[in-house]
Amino acid sequence: MSRTALPEFLSNAAVPNELQSVILGLAEVSVTISQALAKGALAGVLGAAGAENVQGEDQKKLDVIANDLIKEALAALPAVRGLASEEEPDVLACHTDGQYLVTFDPLDGSSNIDINSMVGTIFSVLPHTGSAAVTEQDFLQPGRQQAAAGYILYGPSVMLVLSTGNGVAMFTLDQDQNRYLLTEADISIPVEAKEFSINMSNQRHWVAGMQHYISDLLLGKEGPRGKDFNMRWVAAMVADVHRILCRGGLFTYPWDSRKPEQAGKLRLMYEANPMGFLVEQAGGEVWTPEGKILDIQPEHIHQRVPVILGAASEVKICVDYHQR
Ligand code: F6P
Ligand code: MN
Repeated sequence: MSRTALPEFLSNAAVPNELQSVILGLAEVSVTISQALAKGALAGVLGAAGAENVQGEDQKKLDVIANDLIKEALAALPAVRGLASEEEPDVLACHTDGQYLVTFDPLDGSSNIDINSMVGTIFSVLPHTGSAAVTEQDFLQPGRQQAAAGYILYGPSVMLVLSTGNGVAMFTLDQDQNRYLLTEADISIPVEAKEFSINMSNQRHWVAGMQHYISDLLLGKEGPRGKDFNMRWVAAMVADVHRILCRGGLFTYPWDSRKPEQAGKLRLMYEANPMGFLVEQAGGEVWTPEGKILDIQPEHIHQRVPVILGAASEVKICVDYHQR
């Protein structure tokens, strides 16, 4: 069977050449990252890097490797005006004529590395609309303005999932030829949710709305929802959202009282916005308890946000529990 390769797909979809170059650059570097991940202990790349990142999290060696590879690859592209990485304190200015700003989470779910479980790279591409010299301010655009967003999931197969604002397509890496081939052209999140995804160990720290919502799901057929729900938690947003795109359900990482000063765990610009763009493009919804995530005006690049995403009707029900 002949399948459409990523470059051909982008041309057919009339994606602007400069944007194509950014997406193809990310695709190419992801192959190198997937090879480092596959070698694992044989290449000595597992374990801690021995440092903390700007988020106050312990970095893994592969966090640093993936970050350096992506930075180097993107900085070489004339279309890239500037970069912001979850692993770096400051934005990086690149080409003065570049049209795009790229934000990325180089290795999402990196606590999974040492147990040989799924991780991913998440990216968001924004138009550059600001001044000649790139500053953090230029990146602070609502998620709705993204020109493209996507992720690479390093799992049993390596997949690239992408939206340029015209639906969601999934590509699988052909590891013999190192090319991404189209395997799902138009993803649509199933309407009825049967699964939910939350770190249940934090239950006692959630706000009342989330407590009530999850308690009612757990009551199953005997409760107000009148049906049983299944639960899944991979602890890598990229893998949990991939499951939502493939078979539906709801994913949430709520605010909790462990760090009351922090809005949530997930990052708006590196995680919530790009994943939100994909989920909306696949017919789902992406909210905080107060409103739609893609409409948030960011205040700083490392901002965090509570996230409720997935099948549209289920997200609405969860938000309603908070607003009662
Ligand atoms: O990037 C943050 C992250 O690793 C997400 O990928 C994931 O959804 C979440 O944190 C896992 O959090 P926890 O450690 O609470 O399970
Ligand atoms: Mn992450």
